[in-house]
Amino acid sequence: MWKPPERIKFFPSPGRSPSRQEAQAARLFSPIQLGPLALRHRTWVPAMVPWRSNEAGEVTEDVIQWYARFAQGRPGAIVVEATGIRDVPSGPLLRIGDDRYIDGLRRLTRAVHEASGGQTRLLIQIIDFLRIRRRPDPQVFFERHLNLSPALLERAGLLGLPDQQAREALFKLGPDGWQGVLDLRDWQSLQYGAREHVNDIHLPHIAQLPQELPGLFANAAQRAQAAGFDGVELHYAHAYTMASFLSATNQRSDGYGGSREQRVRLPLQVYAQVRAAVGAGYAVGCRFLADECIEGGSTVQDSTWYALQFALAGMDFLSTSRGGKFDDAKQPGIGQAAYPYTGRSGYECMPQYLSDAQGPFGRNRQATAQIRHTIRQAGLSTPVVCTGGVHNFEMAEAMLAAGDCDVVGTARQSLADPDWALKTWLGRGREVRLCEYTNYCEGLDQKHKQVSCQLWDRQALDEPGVRKSQDGKRRLVAPAWQADAADQTKTADTGVGT
Ligand SMILES: Cc1cc2nc3c(=O)[nH]c(=O)nc-3n(C[C@H](O)[C@H](O)[C@H](O)COP(=O)(O)O)c2cc1C
Ligand code: SF4
Repeated sequence: MWKPPERIKFFPSPGRSPSRQEAQAARLFSPIQLGPLALRHRTWVPAMVPWRSNEAGEVTEDVIQWYARFAQGRPGAIVVEATGIRDVPSGPLLRIGDDRYIDGLRRLTRAVHEASGGQTRLLIQIIDFLRIRRRPDPQVFFERHLNLSPALLERAGLLGLPDQQAREALFKLGPDGWQGVLDLRDWQSLQYGAREHVNDIHLPHIAQLPQELPGLFANAAQRAQAAGFDGVELHYAHAYTMASFLSATNQRSDGYGGSREQRVRLPLQVYAQVRAAVGAGYAVGCRFLADECIEGGSTVQDSTWYALQFALAGMDFLSTSRGGKFDDAKQPGIGQAAYPYTGRSGYECMPQYLSDAQGPFGRNRQATAQIRHTIRQAGLSTPVVCTGGVHNFEMAEAMLAAGDCDVVGTARQSLADPDWALKTWLGRGREVRLCEYTNYCEGLDQKHKQVSCQLWDRQALDEPGVRKSQDGKRRLVAPAWQADAADQTKTADTGVGT
């Protein structure tokens, strides 16, 4: 992963631990409405892909255990990982692109509601993404993948040569020669692997996205509703299709690119069709980027404007992230796919403990505050969820007190300790296992390996019934936390709305 050149080390602090009384009177542990959906607390586990599904994209026992473990810590809400709206092979990523997925997803919603004693609300993040290929072996690229256009053959002085001979001649030019004759797109495909872009409107399936996506998202949202999820989060963030429509790099000339008004058109149409499918009584919001953090990308000025359009359209919540783009991703090895969290924008998305003067903690706070402020100034009360480097009660409470956000997302801190909020709520904050922001988990994600946390994945491996990673070396869920008997009664007693 890219790291800021300053390489300043930051160590997370547990902050001040509140007493039980103080915690239970705190903003963080007060209820909030997301439109029709009541959250008991303002703690939120954002979407994280843990690579627990299978090649069929189904809910497996490992998926259920992963989310049930977060639910035992009783956050206000958990958002299930990015789940594909199309029924196409996509490796072990969860899918919701067909009705046959509903039963498995229903088992998941039941398990989470049960594990949290009915106190945690479960949403699902629904996603569309475009095709990306692995970085090719140059010989294979020139033999099979490269499209031999007349312009290319002319630049290479190979016009009129039979196809096979032209390919061989191009391959023989070697790296310096390739850069001279390939156009920018082919050069990038050779260097990084071919990647479809929303700007490719010469490709019929890319041109059709605005006609196709609203229906696909709406069907997926209906399935989520049928499976018992409490709401859906439309994935409009990071490196994926909807974020690419919002991006300032979207230059489509079909009315869905160029100006901000045209870039937000499809995201609003998707939302409108989803809303029509699930009705007014069901929570629908989106996750989007407060800042793309790439050269020529959308900035906080754009995202503030988008947020206003989403709020005006009636979304029930807005959740912010930042960065995570392919545009500045590191070159993958041959045979590997590019990963959108390896460049500077990736750092902004999942900042690590080696940082610049700003540091990794609360890195999305200022931009999110600006977004929320603008929405409130327009007289709208849409709740805003802020995520990025938040790891203790004091920080979360300060963000809420300052009016920077309404709900606090903690991804890696919840992975490090799924009970962190519960411990704090019980006045036992000193027992919280603090995330160290090493990004060991993110490294596993990058290799599409089952994600776990280095702070607990080698503990009690011989515990009866413990499920382990494919290599048998790591446990897949955090060890149970033993609250004492008195605290167990207290936790069981808390009703929704306390
Ligand atoms: C292993 C892993 C997988 C992630 N998967 C997703 C995802 O599916 N969707 C998403 O919007 N963000 C995803 N993220 C980003 C997190 O939701 C979050 O925005 C990011 O980690 C920064 O928050 P934090 O500092 O609290 O960890 C992922 C993060 C990690 C570490
Ligand atoms: S592996 Fe654990 S400690 Fe390290 S960044 Fe991930 S969650 Fe935090």
